[in-house]
Amino acid sequence: MNSTRRILVVEDELVVATDIQQRLVSLGYEVPSIASTGEEAVQLAAEGKPDLVLMDIVLPGGMDGVEAANQIRQQLDIPVVFLTAHSDEHTFGRAKMSDPFGYVVKPFEERTLQIAIELAPHRHDLERKLRQISRWMTATLSSIGDAVIATNSRGEVLLLNLVAENLTGWTQAAAAGQPIDELLRLVQENTEEPVPNPVWSVLREGKTRVQASALLVDRGGDEIHIDACAAPIIDENDTVLGVVLVFRDISDRKHAAERIRQLNEQVTRLTSEASERGATPDELHTLVRAVSHDLRTPLRGIAGYARMLEKSYASHLDDTGREFLTTIQSSAKSMNAMLEGYLAFLGVSRRGLEPFGPVNMDELVQSVFEDLNAPQAEPPATLIRHALPPAWGDLSMLRQVLVNLLSNAIKFSVRRDTPTVEVGGVVESNRLVYFVKDNGVGFDSRRAGRLFEAFQRLHSMADFPGTGVGLAIVKRIIERHGGQVWAESPSGQGATFFFSLPPAPKAR
Ligand SMILES: Nc1ncnc2c1ncn2[C@@H]1O[C@H](COP(=O)(O)OP(=O)(O)OP(=O)(O)O)[C@@H](O)[C@H]1O
Ligand SMILES: [Mg+2]
Repeated sequence: MNSTRRILVVEDELVVATDIQQRLVSLGYEVPSIASTGEEAVQLAAEGKPDLVLMDIVLPGGMDGVEAANQIRQQLDIPVVFLTAHSDEHTFGRAKMSDPFGYVVKPFEERTLQIAIELAPHRHDLERKLRQISRWMTATLSSIGDAVIATNSRGEVLLLNLVAENLTGWTQAAAAGQPIDELLRLVQENTEEPVPNPVWSVLREGKTRVQASALLVDRGGDEIHIDACAAPIIDENDTVLGVVLVFRDISDRKHAAERIRQLNEQVTRLTSEASERGATPDELHTLVRAVSHDLRTPLRGIAGYARMLEKSYASHLDDTGREFLTTIQSSAKSMNAMLEGYLAFLGVSRRGLEPFGPVNMDELVQSVFEDLNAPQAEPPATLIRHALPPAWGDLSMLRQVLVNLLSNAIKFSVRRDTPTVEVGGVVESNRLVYFVKDNGVGFDSRRAGRLFEAFQRLHSMADFPGTGVGLAIVKRIIERHGGQVWAESPSGQGATFFFSLPPAPKAR
């Protein structure tokens, strides 16, 4: 019991008032003042700020106890308990309208009064806290940049914040009580097939659901790209009470991704157009450098934010969220490798050829193989090198050809118990033909023609990392020497890559 609680007694009959005052004091409360009219009650409450007002209902003058209680509650936020002899329906009904914290009928037992007095401040406190929470929630919901919709367990809308109002085209007033499907109509991006609302699966399974990239059809029929996440509201018995759905407009991000895709296409198209119309290597290089630069900035952003997300928020994500994050990261990584690839590929075109001279292919193969084999392969590959006819060309370019072919041979045979790379060459009537053969995984020979195109890879990044420019570079170099390239992979027997070169001038 709180003995220091201060109570204002409002009672027009002085004898009754004094009696109540004495009984309250004997229960351990303080009664600093007594009011006899409604107006006086409001005034004394304002001056003395009591913890509680004990209010008679029928009072002389213009303001009765119900009215006075309303004012005291609204203006001063002080709890009021009615204490009255009038327990008829009408009086009780009016008193109830003012939502009192207690209602005690005279004559009363002290115990009943005491319980009412003790409970009132608790309820008052609780209501104040609820009001605070609700204000805090409203402020939070309206200040966050994401759209938020809450539903009950039947998927009917309880509330939505301003962003959700803007995105869906529904107002809180119109939306309240509507089925969520009315507000949030989702369709698939390309097919326009309906996408099931994540709210339903959350209500069924009680688990958070992430809905990546779908189109939201708003009330006016416009489509907006969104990402959505729906989480259950669960009580202490694990019963799902409703769902909170958070979603955001990702049109900007979609546009950025689309821009990257377009740029990418542009590079490929421009590069091939430019080389068809005989653009100079410098022109090509400038073009690719410019576009690579364009692409790198947003790419760095994607990679950087993904890293931050991983570092600081990974624990807040569920499995699906983490999966998305990994995909973003690996896509950014492979795009970066592609940009590097463009530059490497174009680097070859940019450089003019050195004057041709004799090239000792035996020595070249041996040294390239030794450079590549030691650090890369486990177990190390074995080289079978047949005697090779000397070639005629640009030494450093031909070295690059062998680096690319031998590194592939080693890479794609690394899983064999005894990886073996065989290099040989023959002199034909009007050309020299060399081959690099391995006993690795081989490739699908129906797609052999595409291997030499830039960025064409027949194996997954996870199995065999790479960018897909090595063979395109080989082709470019060999063609600039006046030769040709081709490849074979009889099933299960590894792969053989051939290149031909015109014979040395003195042999012509
Ligand atoms: N020796 C080989 N055995 C099997 N497949 C091969 C072999 N060499 C190349 N390939 C296939 O051809 C694709 C293109 O080869 P390429 O050398 O251009 O790219 P990469 O090795 O994947 O990447 P990088 O740009 O790092 O060289 C490879 O991804 C692979 O699918
Ligand atoms: Mg390669």
